[in-house]
Amino acid sequence: MPDKGLREIVAASTKISDIDGEKGRLWYAGYDIADLAQHASFEEVIYLLHHTELPTRTQLEELNEFMVGEREMNPFLAKIMPTLAQQASPMSMLRTSVSAASAYDPDGWDDSPEAEYRKAMRLIAKIPTLIACYQRLRTGQEVVPPNPKLPHAANFLWMLQGEEPDPADARVLDTTFVLYADHTMNASTFTARIIASTLSDMFSAITGAIGCLKGPLHGGANEEAMKMAEEVGKPENAAAYVAARLERHQKIMGFGHAVYTTMDPRATELKQLARELGERHDDIVWADIFEALQETVFEQKGLWPNVDLYAAGVYHVLGIATDLMTPLFALARMAGWTAHVREQYADNKVIRPGSEYVGPTGRVYEPIDQRG
Ligand code: ACO
Repeated sequence: MPDKGLREIVAASTKISDIDGEKGRLWYAGYDIADLAQHASFEEVIYLLHHTELPTRTQLEELNEFMVGEREMNPFLAKIMPTLAQQASPMSMLRTSVSAASAYDPDGWDDSPEAEYRKAMRLIAKIPTLIACYQRLRTGQEVVPPNPKLPHAANFLWMLQGEEPDPADARVLDTTFVLYADHTMNASTFTARIIASTLSDMFSAITGAIGCLKGPLHGGANEEAMKMAEEVGKPENAAAYVAARLERHQKIMGFGHAVYTTMDPRATELKQLARELGERHDDIVWADIFEALQETVFEQKGLWPNVDLYAAGVYHVLGIATDLMTPLFALARMAGWTAHVREQYADNKVIRPGSEYVGPTGRVYEPIDQRG
């Protein structure tokens, strides 16, 4: 029997991140995710995932300076964005834009490790600009250029909402990016590594990863979890809603995980953030609904929440449109994807699993007129 989900297959050695699915633990380069969520900025985590060391102050300043200088969209992207804003879904826009960004990258087809690192940092730097620009255009608002004085997360809120964000909100958003930044050999990272393993380019690998993340069984689940919470409407409805869904053999989005058999440690952090944020914004109903869902899904099906459940609750209260939630996941995971692509290049073998043939054998070609 094939291992269809490849759950037992170890396809790479990595120094980037590690999971203990039974204990519900996640580490980036040896640092516990709870510790990083508490203390680290997203920029520090970008550095950590790419260098497997936390940066010194000087190293962080250098990284910030480079990324701030790379936030602007290239002219080609600026030209196609109005069409994408009218006609493409947010994740399709992102996939197309990353693919299109390759045409203007100053490092072109230079595949030296230094050039790949710069390409990675440029991509990470530009994604918030793409998402914010797309959102402003499709809602008929003026595009807000990046603010070089603001860090990554705060600058995103600035470009999206057109005003300087509350520092506490910016910190919450930053922490969601820390939590979403990497997660070992998940489906989209595996996709990126497979593409990189053919020695295809960084942009192709990340374009593929975005296409993979889009699916509702992967990154698309945060949007589905939000829609579910809106359908539930109030905490008292959660039990009946879940029972009806399970009765119809429908999945409860934001629950279950291919690796964790307990609470996803990112969900633990996000649950707390959702409640604190809700209290601060006087909008606690979403934290209440998601917590009611957690309780009843465990009672009825024995499933734990994954990262996407409470991320949806946090993003909603921060004023993020539901269909931008998966793009925000991509914004953060860009750090991990690009680090994995570089790690794959550094110790490469083409990834090529086998398959079990179950079709007919020994057939002989028949001319077309004799078939039927
Ligand atoms: N709701 C209802 N039942 C579920 C759920 C769920 N969310 N998750 C798993 N199950 C059930 C399945 O129906 C199946 O039951 P059965 O044995 O009676 O048929 C059993 O649990 C095993 O399910 P699989 O889908 O085989 O579990 P797997 O480990 O392969 O899947 C996955 C993991 C895809 C995440 C799954 O739990 C799921 O679809 N969850 C909902 C979507 C989601 O939240 N995705 C985000 C995951 S995290 C991330 O990608 C960032």
